[in-house]
Amino acid sequence: MTAQIIDGNQIAASIRAETAEEVRKLKARGVNPGLAVVLVGDNPASQVYVRNKGKACEEIGIFSETIHLPATASEAEVLELVGRLNNDPKFHGILVQLPLPKQIDETKVLFAMSPDKDVDGFHPVNVGKLLIGEPVFMPCTPAGVQQMLVRSGNSPEGKHVVVCGRSNIVGKPVAAILMQKRPGANATVTICHTGTRNMTEITRQADILIAAAGSPAFIKADMVKAGVVVIDVGVNRVDDPTRKSGFRLAGDVDFDAVKEKAAAISPVPGGVGPMTITMLMANTVKAAKMHSGLA
Ligand code: GUN
Repeated sequence: MTAQIIDGNQIAASIRAETAEEVRKLKARGVNPGLAVVLVGDNPASQVYVRNKGKACEEIGIFSETIHLPATASEAEVLELVGRLNNDPKFHGILVQLPLPKQIDETKVLFAMSPDKDVDGFHPVNVGKLLIGEPVFMPCTPAGVQQMLVRSGNSPEGKHVVVCGRSNIVGKPVAAILMQKRPGANATVTICHTGTRNMTEITRQADILIAAAGSPAFIKADMVKAGVVVIDVGVNRVDDPTRKSGFRLAGDVDFDAVKEKAAAISPVPGGVGPMTITMLMANTVKAAKMHSGLA
């Protein structure tokens, strides 16, 4: 079987074009969408993500500012900054890049954010709204996964979706999104995790498999049925001495083997990666509309 390659770059580009058009319309009405990005410390992957978020904002016409605090910043300093950003009308959205250094309680920081500026969708009020089907801001990576399925012609409606991974950032919210009774969702969802005993038995039942386990090439060909649609959320750095950086990015799926059985599959890189920032842009525009009474 020749699998359809679900091209995240292409899907992201069309959503970014739509979002840029929304930004032009908002600006014409005197609203300048703004995003504050908070980076604490020097985690190399976080620095790359934050830089890319800034670049994407610029391309789309969103005003953005990155506030970089040192790795030694105290919890009180971060909470004070979040409080200040909550009250700054220049910013319609706030994003605190995770993970935070260990002296800072992430939950406290997420709770401190104003839910109507929480464009990451991580505040417990937004997590709760997502679960009961009243989403304000959908978390960006899971929202990107849904868009990839729908826009590639692989709607999850009526399908058995198996999610491998139960993180608060991907596994739990993607399940919450895809189980809702609404177009582009309405799936039967099963979540597998490290406590699952008969994982292969379950993954082989998947019409759609979402791999978000955080382990390189974890999903092997014998774990999927023929004709499955696979979305690979993994971004694992694996050693590669042939690269200047010394590493390459690998997904959670053994791509070369699984693509021989799949009907459709997303690659890494070039799959979910470009979608996350794209959905962040879309959420920031949504926030700007809400705050200015145009939603
Ligand atoms: N760290 C890894 N993924 C994310 C994300 O989607 N948002 C934030 N804020 N931090 C992250």
